[in-house]
Amino acid sequence: MVDTALQRTAQALLAENKGLLAIDESIPTCNRRFATLGIPQTEPARRAYRELIITTSRLGESISGAILCDETIRQHTADGMPFLRVLREAGIEAGIKVDLGTTPLAGHPGEKVTEGLDGLRARLAEYSGLGASFAKWRAVFTIGAHTPSRACMVANAHALARYAALCQEAGLVSVVEPEVLMDGAHSLARCAHVTEDVLRVVFRELVEQGVVLEGVLLKPNMVLPGLDCLVQDPVEVVAEATRTCLRRTVPAAVAGIAFLSGGQSGDLATARLAAINTGTPLPWPVGFSFGRAIQQPALTIWDGNDADMVRAQQALQQRVAANRNARRGTGTE
Ligand code: 13P
Repeated sequence: MVDTALQRTAQALLAENKGLLAIDESIPTCNRRFATLGIPQTEPARRAYRELIITTSRLGESISGAILCDETIRQHTADGMPFLRVLREAGIEAGIKVDLGTTPLAGHPGEKVTEGLDGLRARLAEYSGLGASFAKWRAVFTIGAHTPSRACMVANAHALARYAALCQEAGLVSVVEPEVLMDGAHSLARCAHVTEDVLRVVFRELVEQGVVLEGVLLKPNMVLPGLDCLVQDPVEVVAEATRTCLRRTVPAAVAGIAFLSGGQSGDLATARLAAINTGTPLPWPVGFSFGRAIQQPALTIWDGNDADMVRAQQALQQRVAANRNARRGTGTE
């Protein structure tokens, strides 16, 4: 049966053309991004950066929910206000990344499986008690000559489905993120084929585990040529391939689609989102749950230096507003 509260929360996350802001980089990933800019890789620096982001004025006009990591959900502003209260006062729902990252998949060189199911019921209860209303789990698939293997798809899809079922038990919306990575020289056609296969397996497993699709947001990759592919297809081609792939694989009952950006530039991710939202309406609201494509300019401008904070926040505002606008399709700018 459909849990209407869960369904309402899921729908609200993609209402009014708003989207999700992914600031849930794990500590090692955040540190890696800081290191490339020479920013200290410390808890105070990560806290200051996340404070800069969530205190950006008018963030709630374009962002409905922020995905946090375990470190961030417990942090406070320099003035001592809990981050969760800052978000609540801005009208932004708090989400939490609950997977514990990837590990090599036994017997399948080069492939990864996402871990974090052990103890997940208790962790979800804690996050729900803290005030989170949704959660995220990411699986990754690498396109190679013989990958992703069926084993990798099934193992990751099964974990995604068990995570989503536990979320629903805890009253949390589940963001289901199966990411086909952009790394490689593969063509757009190959990405389309792999993404279709992955999504079919994911939805089969979600249904097997009794997950109510109305309480799920899918966070997929766009259908793209590999970063090293010599043919970089135009925005319209990417949009049509992505629309076709989703139409073929995602049940209409799913509450919404919120794309990851996966290393695309901010402008390109936005242009592609607008193109995907152009043409015959799709069965779901189609929005964004971008990390890098929203944050990168702000991080580069801030560069660990609080004197540049206002400029960094302005850059962030521009990125989120552009993405909200992109949900209306092209021809509206
Ligand atoms: P990107 O948009 O940078 O891919 O980040 C989204 C995310 O949440 C990855 O898990």
